[in-house]
Amino acid sequence: MNSCDPIGLIDSGVGGFTVLKELQHRLPNENYIYFGDSKRMPYGERENEELISLGNAIIRELEGYGVKAIVLACNTLSSLINELSSTVPLFSVIEAGVQETLLLRERGMVGLIATTATVKNRGYEKELALLTRDLHYIAQETHTLAKVINDGKKDLDDLKHNIREAVEPILRKGLKEGVMVEELLLGCTHFPIVAGTIREIYPDLTLINPANGLMRQMQAYFKEREFFCDREYKGSTTIFITAGREISERIMDQLDLNCDNLIETELSVFE
Ligand code: DGL
Repeated sequence: MNSCDPIGLIDSGVGGFTVLKELQHRLPNENYIYFGDSKRMPYGERENEELISLGNAIIRELEGYGVKAIVLACNTLSSLINELSSTVPLFSVIEAGVQETLLLRERGMVGLIATTATVKNRGYEKELALLTRDLHYIAQETHTLAKVINDGKKDLDDLKHNIREAVEPILRKGLKEGVMVEELLLGCTHFPIVAGTIREIYPDLTLINPANGLMRQMQAYFKEREFFCDREYKGSTTIFITAGREISERIMDQLDLNCDNLIETELSVFE
């Protein structure tokens, strides 16, 4: 394995772009290969068995490109990380999100919005319980928000409605427990794409983006092993998508993402 082998990223669609953006910013010399399965999104509404097959199929795909590590830039797949198999190190946005949460708050309650599968699998709660008993998430699933973002329709009222539907129950549950929730973890990589709109509706909530923690985790990991791609010039990024070229290009523009090749493809297992 070579230190300039690419870093792989996986998501059900354009959500993982928010993670790729952080990595490109902090580790610009690395090469990246991204796989976004927009054709089969929302992953959050799928059964675990199906998610494990899809996750493993994409991991095999990325292994075929000789990646040195894989980032599960999808909370839904990260909630099943222990069921996935990989020959290279797998990084979970959930683990990163929990570490990011603990930087802001050590005890009490933090709001969490995520997909149905992430909430059902209790990915965040399990990870947090390994580190502390003093802090808890008030988790709320949303069946629709990731899809609304991935579809890229420009109906702001609909977007706001979906955001409120996810966040209001958290604030209500908090108040019932006598707590004013102050932080909201964006437990789906699609959500930071609409962080501006969430902030507009809830200016008093501090938003937590696991991508920041993930970037620090990867920096530490590669530093410890002296496994950075240590060359002078910028690395390249290839993005594979199974559908959704238009929305991918739009979000890439919005996030100012570097992309050398955007390729529409199908997972080998479905060919
Ligand atoms: N972006 C993904 C996540 O972080 C999944 C969205 C979906 O396909 O449901 O969970």
